[in-house]
Amino acid sequence: MIDIDLRNLSESRIGPDRGFDLDAESTALAPHLDRDADALRGRRSDPAQMLGWIDLPTEQDTVVDDIEAFAERARARFDDLVVLGIGGSSLGTAAVVSALQHPARALQGAAGHGMRVHIVDNVDADVVTGLLEVLDPARTLVNVISKSGTTAETMAAYLAFESWLRAALGDGFRDHVAITTDPETGILRPLAERDGIRAFAVPPSVGGRFSVLSPVGLLPIALAGLDVRALLAGAARANDAASRPLHESAPKQGALAQLLAARRGASISVLMPYSTRLRRLSDWFVQLWAESLGKAVDRRGARVHAGTTPLPAVGTTDQHAQVQLFNEGPFDKVVAFVRIGEPDQDHAIPEPREGLGALSYLGGRRFHELMNAELAATAHALAAHRRLNYTVRMPRADAEHLGELLQTLMWQTALVGERWGVDAYDQPGVELGKVYTYALMGRDGFDEERRELADAGVDV
Ligand code: PA5
Repeated sequence: MIDIDLRNLSESRIGPDRGFDLDAESTALAPHLDRDADALRGRRSDPAQMLGWIDLPTEQDTVVDDIEAFAERARARFDDLVVLGIGGSSLGTAAVVSALQHPARALQGAAGHGMRVHIVDNVDADVVTGLLEVLDPARTLVNVISKSGTTAETMAAYLAFESWLRAALGDGFRDHVAITTDPETGILRPLAERDGIRAFAVPPSVGGRFSVLSPVGLLPIALAGLDVRALLAGAARANDAASRPLHESAPKQGALAQLLAARRGASISVLMPYSTRLRRLSDWFVQLWAESLGKAVDRRGARVHAGTTPLPAVGTTDQHAQVQLFNEGPFDKVVAFVRIGEPDQDHAIPEPREGLGALSYLGGRRFHELMNAELAATAHALAAHRRLNYTVRMPRADAEHLGELLQTLMWQTALVGERWGVDAYDQPGVELGKVYTYALMGRDGFDEERRELADAGVDV
């Protein structure tokens, strides 16, 4: 099981002015976190509460059967998967696939390795054109993912890829597309029905950034040849942990750490896994944390401007980029390290040849040993600089533990949202920008905004 070492938040490690009496704080906060976890579980039967993510690990047997059957056939037929989706519709897939697929998958042959995954999560013509130039339409499956079915970026990419497939395959393009969308609303659902395209449902009670363990993530992850059942089994463990007392609950301890740090003025929350494979996990977390907790008003309508800014980092790489700032810059951060206990692959560092004696301390040691030594050293150095930090300990970076980590971080976010009294499941702050984009792009019904933009001198 994942657990969390909170000691570098304690006053004995980082001093009484910045650190905490962890026993006293835990005793004070535990009843609140217990009540909040119960309240979240209690509210989940109401779909409007958007808490369907809690049940995804345990209530998708038929969905997973369908996904696995589809993926098995598709993996025999296609080499490349293009995922069209943005935000919650692709970040989870990117995190899981880059964590679990062979790191040099793009260089391997096709057979038996799961599909190569290409994620189009921007309207960047360089990326779209580059893929269209290189991929073979006959061996490519396109999975368009949009819960709302209205997202301009994803729809523009879909139009480009559909037209490319149609030009090469005619009506046969339908077998090269899989749609993941709301079971009822949006334009993708009728498109799937009209054209006989295979469609998968995003449960209405699951929001984008909490949807990695729904078909949004599970389908592309299965197409990549990865074990979705293990991912869900691990996530179910995090659900169990969320029901346990604080001292044996990683979701609650993560929430505790963030709540305490915010109290000390930490306005920046760094997630720093010591693993290149987990680099994209931080991007997924950035969206989860920022969109869920960055809110102008709380649930009672009071103006709060809540939120802390998530900052992605990766060890050891960022020791040579950001750690100088973390150690000596403003006291405005909390750093959450992620430590992997046992590596899937390790590599012995060879004994240095003659003349390289200065490197003899490395010879015979292992890469993973050096990685974790660097983590321990950096965490201790931060503490020595009186900087708040804690370490999430993940026994292995396999599918099960990754599922557990994803669900743990979703619980952590939800629990902090409850404590701060904000709605962690909406994103009103992104709507206005979308409306202005529609106006600038000439969409019907946005004349008033078009006039407003023209008056302000804003144009494309
Ligand atoms: O978390 C969210 O709800 C958003 O970030 C969405 O995932 C993102 O905007 C994409 O939306 P959609 O899946 O409707 O295209």
